[in-house]
Amino acid sequence: MTTLQEKAYAKLNLTLDILGKRDDGYHDLESVMQQITLCDDIEIDVETGEDWKLECDWEDVPADSTNLAWKAAGLFYKSIGKDPQGLTIRITKRIPMQAGLAGGSADAAAVLRALNRHEGEPYTIWELARLSAKIGSDVPFCVLGGTCLGTGRGEKLEQLLPMPQCFYCIAMPDFSVSTPELFREYDEAETTWHPDTKGMLKSLDQHDLLHVAGHVGNTMEPVVNAKHPEIEEIKSVMRDCGALGTAMTGSGSAVYGIFDAFDMAAMASMQLMEKYKTFLSRNVN
Ligand code: C5P
Repeated sequence: MTTLQEKAYAKLNLTLDILGKRDDGYHDLESVMQQITLCDDIEIDVETGEDWKLECDWEDVPADSTNLAWKAAGLFYKSIGKDPQGLTIRITKRIPMQAGLAGGSADAAAVLRALNRHEGEPYTIWELARLSAKIGSDVPFCVLGGTCLGTGRGEKLEQLLPMPQCFYCIAMPDFSVSTPELFREYDEAETTWHPDTKGMLKSLDQHDLLHVAGHVGNTMEPVVNAKHPEIEEIKSVMRDCGALGTAMTGSGSAVYGIFDAFDMAAMASMQLMEKYKTFLSRNVN
């Protein structure tokens, strides 16, 4: 038996825009995504000689074949035509679920990266990212990491220059959002707001944190905030603590603030932690 270890890093959407609805039910997106240090730990035992198992320290995480990490292992071994002779996946979770932080996708991506390495790299990282789109729209980004522009379902990726270093305060309100439901509500919304993706790309090119932070934004945020004004409340606390930019990530409900100094991010976290689960994080580039 061999034990593999891998970090599963969370994702933030620096910008998230919806360009339109497609015939297959999905939406065409345009999103600048950033990998951050908030992470789950993944351990995989290969060749256990027993049935496949998934163990997780959080009770509400599915511990069976419906878990994206299990699906990722299944897809990987099917695609290389090999039987791993028994597999156990252990997940130590820190990334909150249904938060827009791609926690489940990050776990799946970490499983793919670890197994690909273990099997002698049958796939390049780009091939692995392409394969992983079968598991979910966010998985390819989690395989590649860094800073990327995602289009299509979010799975067509272009690597960008690294985001300037900064500190994030992330706050998780007490409600979670169903992604398909939110897309439906978005389609029915009468007015929409759109982030300036071009401005974000230019700011990243110029490696200018102030401008990057000034361009964060999420087209889905007003739809969520209309029902859950906590989003704006959190952003307001973060701004008062000196955040250079704030936005909801993905389909929510987590909200982040970008800070150029750790003590300001920590101050925001301290002010918010009585009411919300909070995290401090940095970029993974
Ligand atoms: O691909 P994934 O399983 O992560 O998507 C979850 C759901 O989110 C989809 O079933 C769909 O309803 C919605 N979605 C969408 N357009 C996207 C990505 C997700 O409508 N680009």
